[in-house]
Amino acid sequence: MAVSKTDQFQVGVFLEDPQDIEVVREALKSLDIKKSDIVKGGVKEAIEFVSDRKSPQYLIIDVSKSDMPVSDLNQLAELCDPGVNVIAVGVRNDVGLYRDLMKLGISDYLVSPLFSDILGHSLKTFFFGEENNKKTHSKFGKIIAFVGARGGVGTTFLATNFVTLVSKEKSRRVVLLDLDLHFGTDSLYFDLKSGSGLRDALENPDRIDPLFIERLLVPVDDRLSIVSSEEDLEEQISYKTEGVEALVKTLSEKFHYVVIDVPHYSNNITQTVISHAHIMVLVTDASLASLRDAGRLIRLFGAEEGGRKVVVVINKSGLYDKGEVALDDFENTLAHKISHVLPFDKSSPMDFINRGKILVEEKSVLASSIRELTNDIIGAKKPEEQISWLSSFFKKN
Ligand SMILES: Nc1ncnc2c1ncn2[C@@H]1O[C@H](COP(=O)(O)OP(=O)(O)OP(=O)(O)O)[C@@H](O)[C@H]1O
Ligand SMILES: [Mg+2]
Repeated sequence: MAVSKTDQFQVGVFLEDPQDIEVVREALKSLDIKKSDIVKGGVKEAIEFVSDRKSPQYLIIDVSKSDMPVSDLNQLAELCDPGVNVIAVGVRNDVGLYRDLMKLGISDYLVSPLFSDILGHSLKTFFFGEENNKKTHSKFGKIIAFVGARGGVGTTFLATNFVTLVSKEKSRRVVLLDLDLHFGTDSLYFDLKSGSGLRDALENPDRIDPLFIERLLVPVDDRLSIVSSEEDLEEQISYKTEGVEALVKTLSEKFHYVVIDVPHYSNNITQTVISHAHIMVLVTDASLASLRDAGRLIRLFGAEEGGRKVVVVINKSGLYDKGEVALDDFENTLAHKISHVLPFDKSSPMDFINRGKILVEEKSVLASSIRELTNDIIGAKKPEEQISWLSSFFKKN
């Protein structure tokens, strides 16, 4: 059976006024939109609704009973996919509020009581805007590439700890994509088996759609999923950069953070990932060889501008008594700041992996260093900076 375009729209409607509810119900019917949940209420009810299920991609929300619509919507944003589209409804014809809400990336602000012609016009842009006049902007999560200057320096260890902190403590929806299809260990760190379908997705990008993506995801918990594979070593895998681009783009519509564990070899896939990353976390040890390759990777990343940046981390510092390059020399030669130096911890990391546990879930010196690193990568926000975070959430990063 053919699926009509409007069958793909999932709408959540949270309105206080029964008459407004009727106007919206009629408007959705005339647009042939069948998948809708209509609830009497406002932002509070919307928050309750999305807390225990998948958020609809389209929300119509009454903010009239909310004293602080901006911060209430901020709270709602934490629980939704990055790609969510919102129309706010209020009783105030308030230009200041309108501007604030539009700055957040909200699609429209309508004043109650709703009129069917104004609402109809707004909904058409809301649902079909991209096709008709490109007014609706697409929204994407942040792409963070974890790249090792050498093999074995702790790239996967740090990526897995990072995603755990961001999903558990920062309440973001995160996916960890392990692009080493032969030797990747990301799912091992979580004591999970790899899923199936990653190779298929990369080799056949035209098959990638939200349904296909659902099947790739191996959930760690409600907010964190892993996409990985364990291909036979006899199998030669060849996929094009289009596969990675399509996969990462679709993932970034569903998750606030797409974290990619980049295999340690250089090919066009590595280069594509690095060129699309908003942030490259460059993991290195303090050896001379790593110093050389860290420099080459920074050059490959290119200009740090428009919010793109490289965070350089020296891991396993102090592993050797002699021979490690001093911090000053490392920075001077790289001509780049070293953001974090993480100590070698000879007791915990291996033991945690063996037990299928993530290190940052318990206290240690290394765990608190990884916490600082995480805050630095995601740019932990002070309360007054939250508006800008929300705007990057609703808008394209
Ligand atoms: N700071 C640290 N102190 C002690 N051990 C660490 C530290 N960081 C990572 N390790 C350990 O080093 C080993 C290799 O780590 P990991 O698998 O993350 O390396 P990698 O860079 O991803 O390797 P590959 O290039 O093979 O993907 C693991 O056993 C991990 O627990
Ligand atoms: Mg690894």
